[in-house]
Amino acid sequence: MVNFPSVLESINDLSLKQTKDLLELASKFKGYANDWQGLPTPFIRTPIIATSFLENSTRTKHSFAIAIKKLGATYIDFNAETSSLKKGESLEETLLTLHAQGTDLCIIRTNVSNQLSEFKDKPPIKIINGGDGINQHPTQALLDLFTMKEIGLSKLQGKTITIVGDIYHSRVGHSLIDLLPQFGINLILCGPQECLPDDLSAEQKAKITLTTNVDEAIEKSDLLYLLRIQKERHEGQEASYYENYPANYGISVERLKKHGKNIPIFHPGPANVGVEISEDLIKSKYYFGHEQVNNSVYMRMAIIQAVLQNQDKNVGIKFNGRTIQDLC
Ligand code: NCD
Repeated sequence: MVNFPSVLESINDLSLKQTKDLLELASKFKGYANDWQGLPTPFIRTPIIATSFLENSTRTKHSFAIAIKKLGATYIDFNAETSSLKKGESLEETLLTLHAQGTDLCIIRTNVSNQLSEFKDKPPIKIINGGDGINQHPTQALLDLFTMKEIGLSKLQGKTITIVGDIYHSRVGHSLIDLLPQFGINLILCGPQECLPDDLSAEQKAKITLTTNVDEAIEKSDLLYLLRIQKERHEGQEASYYENYPANYGISVERLKKHGKNIPIFHPGPANVGVEISEDLIKSKYYFGHEQVNNSVYMRMAIIQAVLQNQDKNVGIKFNGRTIQDLC
């Protein structure tokens, strides 16, 4: 893929062409899923890939780990909690260390929004953002788009998707907002006022509908994308809407039926059953969360391969065999 970024921080780092190529490649990888003859390996040597999750994760970390193994690469679970980061070393120095030891790519999750931006000009190592604070989670949005296509929402153009939940604090929400309109999808963002984003550009405001009325939003939707209330990002403030959230915004089979809607329900997980999604809905035919998880592996394989193959010479430190004499 031409000029694929070495630091994939945001959806906006990708051209539409690169996104489309990723979708195609993920699809190819999926086609090989049951081919035990092995993947046609494009690598001349086995790449070494680390994950460094500075924040909790179940799905993302394991899906990357499995994608790495399926690609035949070597996986290092870099445990940031017990590393020198805890002794005050900067993230940059830690990443340069990983690269100097021969790690090719590091997948990073951090609770600091935009923390990876500083690495774009001179990457200490190739990086994929596994979610940074409330800013971006590009691989989740890409795998969601892949899943939307896979399940038959093939003509995305003109379809309406409503994201319901705590969009303000959601990096998944922010990445979806950047990605889905590129494919002609009409976006509705729905939740209590405090949950709606306040950082939309003028161009986004012109295209995206914001509403606090979930029933009206459901009426117009071809798919609902649910997000949990991300209390851990509320900086200790008790959300006033929380108590009545299930009644006001929780989605159940009954609520879909009330509107005569047979539409897919997406959720990036973890889901809070009984809050944003009812128990009967998560167990129903409408729920596509497991398809999202299943497809996550193939999209992440595609992204990893694209980053590894980008031929960027500007990454890390070059070792040119220098000696003491060179200091004089
Ligand atoms: C999300 C995340 O961590 O940003 N989950 C995920 O990656 N699958 C969503 C969330 O935390 O609610």
